[in-house]
Amino acid sequence: MAGIYIHIPFCKKKCTYCDFFTVVSPKFIPSLVDSIVKECFLRKDYLQNATINTIYFGGGTPSILNNEQFEQIFEAIFKLFNVAKNAEITFEANPDDLTVDFFTSIQSLPFNRISIGIQSFDDDDLIRINRRHTGNEAINAVKNAQQAGFNNLSIDLIYGLPFQTLASWEQQVEIALSLHVQHISAYGLTYEEGTPLWKQREKGLVKAVDDEIMNEMHLLLVDKIKQKGFEAYEISNFALPNFRSRHNTSYWKQDAYLGLGPSAHSYDLKSRQWNVSSITKYLKAVDENSSLFEKEELSLFDRYNDFVMVSLRTLDGLDVTLLEQEFGSELKSYCLQNIKSFIDNKKVEYSDGVLRLTTDGIQICNFILVQLMRV
Ligand SMILES: C[S@@+](CC[C@H](N)C(=O)[O-])C[C@H]1O[C@@H](n2cnc3c(N)ncnc32)[C@H](O)[C@@H]1O
Ligand code: SF4
Repeated sequence: MAGIYIHIPFCKKKCTYCDFFTVVSPKFIPSLVDSIVKECFLRKDYLQNATINTIYFGGGTPSILNNEQFEQIFEAIFKLFNVAKNAEITFEANPDDLTVDFFTSIQSLPFNRISIGIQSFDDDDLIRINRRHTGNEAINAVKNAQQAGFNNLSIDLIYGLPFQTLASWEQQVEIALSLHVQHISAYGLTYEEGTPLWKQREKGLVKAVDDEIMNEMHLLLVDKIKQKGFEAYEISNFALPNFRSRHNTSYWKQDAYLGLGPSAHSYDLKSRQWNVSSITKYLKAVDENSSLFEKEELSLFDRYNDFVMVSLRTLDGLDVTLLEQEFGSELKSYCLQNIKSFIDNKKVEYSDGVLRLTTDGIQICNFILVQLMRV
């Protein structure tokens, strides 16, 4: 089982909080698509002919590509990789791209899932973070996708935006739940160093929402979303039954994946590698077939840390037997010893050989994880 991630690093404008690798100029879109196709050929053996269960176009803004550009990439992927018949094939989209015409133009493509970046339906929030759509446009984007026949839709929201209150967050959640999407990702705002939003906070122009309110926002969301039948299957991810993101789940289950495009990461169970975060360097490296990534071999401790970090954030939890099988009895004991006080304080539940964060534990997730890391 394996996945393919394709990074499309273009945004019509930059949101103030975002530090993903993207550029605003569309100048290099055609040559980048050509290079991604070439990279498919260069790295066709990376996954060793494993069955590809998920393909994910992320960004940036994949919805900036046109039908022909997507076709070019799909043609290479389907030719070179062993894609499962029922593969989950997702693209991330910005609401303003999702017009009726756009859906008509991509009809023949094999997408069966869309992840729409909405962040908020509140126009003041959206202006403050430099989004390029309004709340109503976001609602229409979801409706257009539904009318075009997509019945596996995800939306992204951010809580703890500057000046957001618990009451205004509650409104966002209610609007989101009224749209009948199958999946919601909701992330607490992080102030990424160097972003315009981070600089605004440094200058005192915006103030981070208190941790306590952030926790209340998360609790409110979990409470409301569960009432509508969603599973909180990971701290930031919520799905109706059978609509978990298979792509993200495969990351959390440590399946191998190949990342194509500038800044994309790959993982083959033994090492991680990440492509260069520069469009021109990427184009040149692909063209000359020279090194386009950096690589890190993973030690036993690295792999153990990754396993603990991702599994403890999920509803399925951390399977202690699996941990022992994969990493040995010494690391199993280390984990159980360090998590004991959290079990005693009811931050973590330990039953049937599985460790899971309780509702209280989720609020201090990062603190717990730090205690479990092995360096
Ligand atoms: C890489 S973005 C791509 C989505 C798409 N370009 C869009 O913005 O509509 C994926 C998601 O990460 C989340 N995200 C990005 N930066 C974040 C930050 N600093 N804090 C919290 N969430 C963030 C947003 O919810 C965003 O939709
Ligand atoms: S959040 Fe999405 S649209 Fe905004 S800058 Fe980041 S990748 Fe681009």
